[in-house]
Amino acid sequence: MDKIRIAVIGAGGIAGAHLRAYSACAARCEIVGIADVIPAAAEAKVAQYGGRAFNDAETMLDTARPHAVSICTPPKFHLPAVKAAAARGISVLCEKPPARNLAETEAIVAAMQGALLQFAFCHRFHPPLKAAQALIQSGQLGKLAQIENRFAFRFSRAGKSWFTDAEISGGGILIDTLVHSIDIFRALTGGDEIESAQAQVSSALPIEVEDSASLLLKSRGGVIGTLNCSWVTPVSEAVLRIYGTEGQAIIDYNAAAGLRYKLADDADWTEQNFDEPDRFVAQADHFLRCIENGSAPLVRPEDGLAVMRIIETAYQSAGVLQ
Ligand SMILES: NC(=O)c1ccc[n+]([C@@H]2O[C@H](COP(=O)([O-])OP(=O)(O)OC[C@H]3O[C@@H](n4cnc5c(N)ncnc54)[C@H](O)[C@@H]3O)[C@@H](O)[C@H]2O)c1
Repeated sequence: MDKIRIAVIGAGGIAGAHLRAYSACAARCEIVGIADVIPAAAEAKVAQYGGRAFNDAETMLDTARPHAVSICTPPKFHLPAVKAAAARGISVLCEKPPARNLAETEAIVAAMQGALLQFAFCHRFHPPLKAAQALIQSGQLGKLAQIENRFAFRFSRAGKSWFTDAEISGGGILIDTLVHSIDIFRALTGGDEIESAQAQVSSALPIEVEDSASLLLKSRGGVIGTLNCSWVTPVSEAVLRIYGTEGQAIIDYNAAAGLRYKLADDADWTEQNFDEPDRFVAQADHFLRCIENGSAPLVRPEDGLAVMRIIETAYQSAGVLQ
């Protein structure tokens, strides 16, 4: 197969991670176009990663003729970008959250019926998370009981960007960041159905969306998840704790060790370190492999729908949605 022709729509922060990842796979793909409504944003990324700059996504798709596109715009623009790709038979890697709400996510999945659609839940490709999944599947942690997760930091763009404009983002930190936590919980519990989802949200900042959120989940298999996210706490934390009847595991994204675990009879913690490609490179590599082999993506369209159903239930339980 010739090199896969790649385009990127939206040339902001996360587009840099996609472009860096495709560059790491340069033997198999070629960046042919980068589109942004701000021409200078597209041009800056082209100067760094190559391809041709466009200020209109549809013009880019017709001119640069990519096989595949990464959609890296704010959520409001995911659906129109997906529809434009779908109409041209182009494979899609779509950033999280899938869209502003469940209805738009359903429209994305319907538009891509029969074509390759991968939602960019990048933590699925985080090497320590894959190792934790293997540890759970090996049975060494026993029966899973609880999963705790906290993603928190002081977000300088809160109150100053689309991230806190609900009309563009679909909500605050719950849909923006806790969406990752829900996907991680589902991945660790094997996609088990969620029996209950209850959220609380609040805002310390004078903004229209929540800047802190907590979600209590229970899977049908009995695993309890306590997921906490905040944009207003200054000490950056990204920690996942997995508790089973025979041991526990910790992934601290800010620590030197990738994964630490301790089993019931262990005197000490075991540390596992990883020198595999990071999650963005692994995600792009997987997307390219799905195109090359015609195989189904690890993160399936149904996963995006399932996560957005939980987001909707969470917002309803918190009184944000009817
Ligand atoms: N996977 C992750 O960990 C992660 C991290 C950050 C952001 N994201 C997601 O990536 C997406 C983008 O976030 P970001 O941080 O890069 O935002 P950003 O504001 O840095 O960049 C978005 C870019 O999209 C452009 N844009 C807006 N509308 C457009 C349109 N119709 N066509 C073309 N370009 C358009 C903007 O001009 C801007 O340059 C969001 O869905 C966000 O939630 C994911």
